[in-house]
Amino acid sequence: MEFFATTASPARQKTACAIVGVYDKGVMSDAASELDRRSGGRLARLIKAGDLRGKSGEVLTLADVGGPAERIVVIGLGARGSFTRKAYRKALTAAIAAIAKTGARDALDYLSLEPVKDADRYSLARTAAEVAGNSAYRIPDHKTANKRAKSTLRRFGVAAERADRGAVERGLEHGRGIVAGMATMRDLANQPGNVCTPTFIANTARALARDHRSIKVRVLNEVDCRKLKMGSFLSVTHGSEEPAKFIVLEYYGGERSQAPVVLVGKGVTFDTGGISLKPPPAMDEMKFDMSGAASVLGTFKAVAELELPVNVVGVVPACENMPSGRATKPGDIVKSMSGQTIEVLNTDAEGRLILCDALTYARRFKPDTIIDIATLTGACVIALGNHFSGLFGNDEELIDAIEAAGQRSGDRAWPMPIGEEYAEGLKSNFADFANVAGREGGAITAACFLAKFTSGLKWAHLDVAGTAYQAGSNKSSTGRPVPLLVDYLINK
Ligand code: BES
Ligand code: MN
Ligand code: ZN
Repeated sequence: MEFFATTASPARQKTACAIVGVYDKGVMSDAASELDRRSGGRLARLIKAGDLRGKSGEVLTLADVGGPAERIVVIGLGARGSFTRKAYRKALTAAIAAIAKTGARDALDYLSLEPVKDADRYSLARTAAEVAGNSAYRIPDHKTANKRAKSTLRRFGVAAERADRGAVERGLEHGRGIVAGMATMRDLANQPGNVCTPTFIANTARALARDHRSIKVRVLNEVDCRKLKMGSFLSVTHGSEEPAKFIVLEYYGGERSQAPVVLVGKGVTFDTGGISLKPPPAMDEMKFDMSGAASVLGTFKAVAELELPVNVVGVVPACENMPSGRATKPGDIVKSMSGQTIEVLNTDAEGRLILCDALTYARRFKPDTIIDIATLTGACVIALGNHFSGLFGNDEELIDAIEAAGQRSGDRAWPMPIGEEYAEGLKSNFADFANVAGREGGAITAACFLAKFTSGLKWAHLDVAGTAYQAGSNKSSTGRPVPLLVDYLINK
């Protein structure tokens, strides 16, 4: 989709679909008033007749209105003065759903001119590009009939005051990059486990490097990993017939001397639980257990599209977690690349077992910052639900920066504690520590496990088990936390 900013008056700007707002009690926005005049008072009459009240959630599509807009989509904005960024996102989402019904190929947003308390014009434009761009996303489904109709919307404009034009254009451009990154993530994560294998992720990374010369990719196989002594990572793939891949992506957009941000993504392409087998209900959702990996590829896509002046390294351990005659068993002891030994008390706590070797491997890049992203624990979903990702780490400043990026991008993360009290649960009689503690505080003890591999590093961990995909009847990857990560890198 193409995005553009326009400073032309609504009375003159041609469009298939103009989006304008009406506040409570039928108070028209300036853009609505202007289009109303051009349409011979059509909006005013509807307001007078009570067909248009300006209540939040109200959507009215008017065709054949006269003037430069073929149609007007009027959105109720509720009380003037309490219009927030969130309300803007909601209003625009409703508008775009209405536009989709018309089959219009282009549209123009005038809501972007309204006073919004908690956002600047840059972030409104970025939000607009995200909402419009994401509306065109379609799951790469395998349906042979009843295919979802493609989106007809091709061009999306955002109205701007002359002074804001630069900020709006920058917002649209960043939004476009974020949408592209989210689509990369979602395309990958939505594929079933028999399509999206570790090899498939590796090939997707290679394709990314073909499309963007700024991205370099290297793929290590199991033999390479054995040489590197990644005993913990390899213990997870042991039960699988599908070869594991350890994928490394590099993007150097900043000064060569600048230490990189390393993103580590959990890439379990299917998590059965292994010998500690999961129960059948919703097990299919464990195809999304590579969402961390997919978010790393998606972030690389966005960063390359936007040519951000940052250095980023992606480290993606990818494998399946399967039960078999060769699978790791509860009680088995493995040696991680760090040299620390781990008693695998539960083979379903496999994410931390692959991440710990990836975190150790990441040290070779002398990272400025290291962030891992993982659908790590069901406990995190219990703690935070689907709205916030769990945010852990060992550096106050980094945690604050990530939390702020979440706020700005609307892809929020909530700080959670770690500490010795919690780590105690991981003690083992037979190895340096176990891979699980008790049920209580499960998201936290998982983070404490990872912390044992990040001493001396500036590290944060995002548990996205509740946010990376939507469960239930509308099952799909959400593209999160790509917006958060890209925002973090934009502001780096
Ligand atoms: N991939 C799961 C975590 C998960 C659960 C993600 C539900 C999304 C939804 C992870 O590998 C896992 O199985 N974790 C266990 C840890 C436990 C054995 C300590 C869990 O959460 O039950
Ligand atoms: Mn598991
Ligand atoms: Zn898992």
